Amino acid sequence: MGMNVKNLSRRKLLGGIGAGALLAGLASPALAFRALEGDTLPFRRDAPQLMLHYNENSLGMSPLATESARLAVKNKANRYADDAIAELRSMIAADHGVPTDQVMLGNGSTGVIRAVVTAAAQVNAAVIEPDPTFGDVQRYAKAEGMAVVTVPVGKGFVTDINAMRAKAEATPGPLLINICNPNNPTGTIVDQAALRDWITSAPPTHLFLIDEAYYDYAVNSDGYASLAADVAAGRENIVVARTFSKIYGMAGMRVGYGIAAPETAKRINPFAATYNLSAAGVAAAITSLKDKTYYGKSLASNARGKAILIDALDRLDLGYIPSHTNFLLHRIGSDLASYQRRMKENNILVGRRMTSEDGWNRLSIGTPAEMTEFVRTLDAFRNRGWV
Ligand SMILES: Cc1ncc(COP(=O)(O)O)c(C=O)c1O
Repeated sequence: MGMNVKNLSRRKLLGGIGAGALLAGLASPALAFRALEGDTLPFRRDAPQLMLHYNENSLGMSPLATESARLAVKNKANRYADDAIAELRSMIAADHGVPTDQVMLGNGSTGVIRAVVTAAAQVNAAVIEPDPTFGDVQRYAKAEGMAVVTVPVGKGFVTDINAMRAKAEATPGPLLINICNPNNPTGTIVDQAALRDWITSAPPTHLFLIDEAYYDYAVNSDGYASLAADVAAGRENIVVARTFSKIYGMAGMRVGYGIAAPETAKRINPFAATYNLSAAGVAAAITSLKDKTYYGKSLASNARGKAILIDALDRLDLGYIPSHTNFLLHRIGSDLASYQRRMKENNILVGRRMTSEDGWNRLSIGTPAEMTEFVRTLDAFRNRGWV
């Protein structure tokens, strides 16, 4: 697949420059190709593709979970997965200390997010969210015809809770307040005290969606706290969304969930598809929750990969935003379009433009081996004056 992408871009390049090369008086398209191929580093020429653009987990899924998924496909693919879904729901409920009716399952956490947005659309809620943030709430809200108000992140790319609160208090009517914590693409965590104070004094018509997709990477960070405990304590104006896509390496399996107070869950659940999980996904999720060894390995791999990246950025004097996630927003010392193109020429996929200011890139943390290879590439870019 990596080769295909690479070859395709080469073919396109070749096709694209043929006429120009002839006009420039070059003897043949092949010669012109060699001339333009200067952005491909010799050691990256036939190297495997590094997918560092979607905040996936390069480690892959737990081997035990993979086996569970295989068995589910072999033995249960022809049945609706009721029993397994009930088991997964019970495990999640137990983890959070809530009854099972407070757990909403989704085809990825985006499935839950979409149901939350659709439920909010029924009461003509407007959306308030930071900019930048993960884009799905805005996408679904626009499809529902809802107004979306964005509030720029503050100093250090930290979500500005006080500015969001001021905006919310000045906006009449019901609101859906989208707070991704830690935030994507910044990797930052919010001011917990300010958020709690806001949530506890907000009117009941203001619903807070707390997207905790990267919770596991942040849980030990100073100043971070999940709001799942607030749901368990009975707070009704919060939905907490979580996913198996990140720490458990299950992005392709599509399993996520939300937890909310009983009445809140009751308002949202009708907008979720009845059978939104596959037998394989459910089986893998159940085993992932049990496989503490893989969980530890996954965390350690990310921490090591991040340390390798940060060492290099420090050495190359490229600034970055301290991250509580499996990605990092960092300076690239050039414009993003050129950087992205050159990385792609070297079979490395990096993030797209996500900040209003150019010169930043969001890089997903791969395995330690992948990050070592990325750093080798970044060093070579520096030697050529590209970063
Ligand atoms: C903040 C955030 N929420 C949700 C998701 C999507 O998760 P899922 O795969 O569970 O739909 C992502 C994926 O990148 C994300 O960054």
